[in-house]
Amino acid sequence: MYIEKIKLENFRNYEKEEIKFDKNINIIYGDNAQGKTNILESIFVCSLGKSFRTNKDKELINKNKNYSKVEMISQKKDREVKIKFEIQEKKKFFINDIPSKRTSEIIGKNYIVLFTPDDIGILNNEPSKRRRFLNIMISQLRPIYINLLSEYNKILEQRNYYLKQIKYEGKSKDNLYIWDEQIVKIGLKIYEYRKEFIEKINKKMFDIHLKTTGEETKLKYKSNIRK
Ligand SMILES: Nc1ncnc2c1ncn2[C@@H]1O[C@H](COP(=O)(O)OP(=O)(O)OP(=O)(O)O)[C@@H](O)[C@H]1O
Ligand SMILES: [Mg+2]
Repeated sequence: MYIEKIKLENFRNYEKEEIKFDKNINIIYGDNAQGKTNILESIFVCSLGKSFRTNKDKELINKNKNYSKVEMISQKKDREVKIKFEIQEKKKFFINDIPSKRTSEIIGKNYIVLFTPDDIGILNNEPSKRRRFLNIMISQLRPIYINLLSEYNKILEQRNYYLKQIKYEGKSKDNLYIWDEQIVKIGLKIYEYRKEFIEKINKKMFDIHLKTTGEETKLKYKSNIRK
């Protein structure tokens, strides 16, 4: 798969721009604050449904306009895929011109890996950064994983709400198990997907690292889960 072109309309500092890419390596260069990262951001939003720089979609709209439209066309082995999004009051996605009901539908249509200087933090920042990285990667490969994550978060939220009710409204602790059971069940599935992914990249990383540095490496997924 490769991205053939991207059309930007009122996206960040671009008013109207069409960018064509080569099938192989593309190098985007220019002075500071010219919009290089903005191009990568537009590809990221078309692939994962949200930006890696902001949670506020409105920030993506050009400051002097009130809407933004982006279209990305990629070539797959046997077909072309067009992902489009529009931001006005809300953000809307289209897959091959058909409106998508849920943002998550576009995930996995184009596989992307973003690596910026900040991503070095995956190694030494807090664990949530590593989990975020894993979540982005696995969601693209395994669509069901996104559902597991949102289900997990929903149950966690409910459990936290119930904990508050225990504290402030004197509700019984005996009912906590309802959420605990769910959390364990879904958490275990999430764990399995993460473990599978780490094992997969371990092998690739081992070969590449050995070839380039002569050293052996190993990536280990440490989890508190004990089966
Ligand atoms: N919503 C917006 N409307 C208009 N311009 C914007 C908007 N958001 C960001 N910009 C402009 O985009 C530019 C920054 O773009 P970007 O981060 O892509 O730069 P860059 O080329 O990657 O620079 P660097 O080399 O420093 O990384 C800035 O000039 C900023 O003012
Ligand atoms: Mg930049």
